[in-house]
Amino acid sequence: MTVTLGEGNTPLLHASRLSERFGVELWLKCEGLNPTGSFKDRGMSVAVTKAVEAGATGVVCASTGNTAASAAAYAARAGIEAMIVVTAGGASSSKLVQVRAVGGRVVEIDGSFGDAYDEAVRLAVDGVVLVNSTNEHRIEGQKTAAFEIVDQLGGSPDVLLLPYGGGGNTKAYARGFREKTGELPRFHPTEVENRGGTVASAIRIVEPNHQEEVKTVIVQSEGGIVTVSDDELIAAWRLLGSAEGVFCEPASAAGVAAVARGAAQPGERVVCVITGHGLKDPDAVQRLTT
Ligand code: F0G
Repeated sequence: MTVTLGEGNTPLLHASRLSERFGVELWLKCEGLNPTGSFKDRGMSVAVTKAVEAGATGVVCASTGNTAASAAAYAARAGIEAMIVVTAGGASSSKLVQVRAVGGRVVEIDGSFGDAYDEAVRLAVDGVVLVNSTNEHRIEGQKTAAFEIVDQLGGSPDVLLLPYGGGGNTKAYARGFREKTGELPRFHPTEVENRGGTVASAIRIVEPNHQEEVKTVIVQSEGGIVTVSDDELIAAWRLLGSAEGVFCEPASAAGVAAVARGAAQPGERVVCVITGHGLKDPDAVQRLTT
């Protein structure tokens, strides 16, 4: 049986003011409209479905918060346990509230995201399945966003931009475009300069799990990783809100920050993936607007 909360089929919005400002045809894939407010739900539906099929009694993940909220919700939907490993202060309070609301168990550790991931791997025993993006079923689910973009646009965009944390989503989109069209748009995964201390807690990951696959996607798509500062990210985040009415969490503005930096050529058709909803991180809003 499929474990679902109605994920996917998110809007692709034309951003007319941003298009005009940057001289491109800009579209926003609004993944914050998924059931728990982020793109993670696509892959979590598949990963938890497959875990249940295999007889799992629970799932475990390390997370900066969105994977956590999603894993806990889909585990509850399936009637199994969810264990969530976070670093102290590493996930916004709203995301932790989401976990608690559906009965997930939070294990807090000292250290980096990498340490949390190692702990999650250790906890994935005795019928407990790891649902980080190293679980292939997650990638299989997340690739569907690329299918939708091609259907919604009536073809591939020239350029795809998305935040680059661990790189699982970059890998998933590449697989999706390749399967749907046989080729890749130019990929610009966008990371922040200060990975360890960025204001965007969602992508506070120093060592990306999928960095080799991301490099391959860059080469094959003739794209490039874009690195932006927190200030550029915040400026893009403000612009999404004030110019388009799209309220996202700070990490999700990365693609627009890369466009502002010139990652797309004049006239190109560009899709920025807006990965998470603004209500995911109200504390950040307090900091960014004062
Ligand atoms: N955007 C948001 C809102 C995220 O939560 C994440 C990752 C990313 C972008 C980066 O995606 O890792 O596939 O490159 N969040 C993970 C989490 C780490 O635990 O929720 P990626």
